[in-house]
Amino acid sequence: MAQVITDIALMQQAAAHLRAAGKRIAVVPTMGALHEGHLTLIREAAQRADTVITTVFVNPTQFGPGEDFAKYPRMPERDAALAAGAGAAYVFAPSAPAMYPQGYATFVNVERITEVLEGKSRPGHFRGVATVVLKLFAVTQPHVAVFGQKDAQQVAVIRRMIRDLHQVIELVVVPTVRESDGLAMSSRNAYLSADERAQATVLYRALEDARKLVEAGERRCDRLLDSMNGRIAGSRLAAIDYLSVADADSLEELRDVRNGQTVLISLAVRFGRTRLIDNILVEVR
Ligand code: PAF
Repeated sequence: MAQVITDIALMQQAAAHLRAAGKRIAVVPTMGALHEGHLTLIREAAQRADTVITTVFVNPTQFGPGEDFAKYPRMPERDAALAAGAGAAYVFAPSAPAMYPQGYATFVNVERITEVLEGKSRPGHFRGVATVVLKLFAVTQPHVAVFGQKDAQQVAVIRRMIRDLHQVIELVVVPTVRESDGLAMSSRNAYLSADERAQATVLYRALEDARKLVEAGERRCDRLLDSMNGRIAGSRLAAIDYLSVADADSLEELRDVRNGQTVLISLAVRFGRTRLIDNILVEVR
């Protein structure tokens, strides 16, 4: 069983002892409701460090008004058992008042790359993410931090923050883990009805259509977007929030892709009240 720590000072002490003993620490930040995607991150972390700390915290500052903060699944005992099984020695699960006590006033704002894609649809989201991730780094003192490619923009924001704020932390990004029919694993998949779940497979198919077009020589992004749009329009329950073909580093939207470039093809689509995101990286050759 992993040791579950809820107290910030105790977690800091444990991390300091580990560091003093020369142990390499990896952190895997999560909001809990762990699934195979998270467990893959924890297993990867265990390959890269002596001690893995998984954090489980549903972070209120990254949810906007009307989003699913209140109903986000919370299952602490199950999470602790799963994290331990995948190789975590510690689960850090603080309370919201401990993380954001009365009078809390400090936030991390990564500029520009937070204003597009998810940042445009969910204003303030990345301010909450960057803030909590920096706080989790301060508490767990990791040498390595492991995140999933599923949240591609989150990875870009955290990479920028680590660089800009001189964090001495290696960032490891693990490819998206998918169900056998291609749907990216997400805690939010649990909200889908049976019909929505069946139709949600259209997302990965749309992304793969775009990849195949690029591989076949298509360079115009409007054609890639049309193809994705057409595929998703065939699904009665899907409502597109955005489709995007952007440069993988700058996240700037592209008109054409060019040889040698890595592009991020991404989307956000609603099925009823559930909003799903997915992406692929394509190297243009
Ligand atoms: O990816 C998530 O689950 C969250 O955004 C994170 C990184 C744990 C911050 O709350």
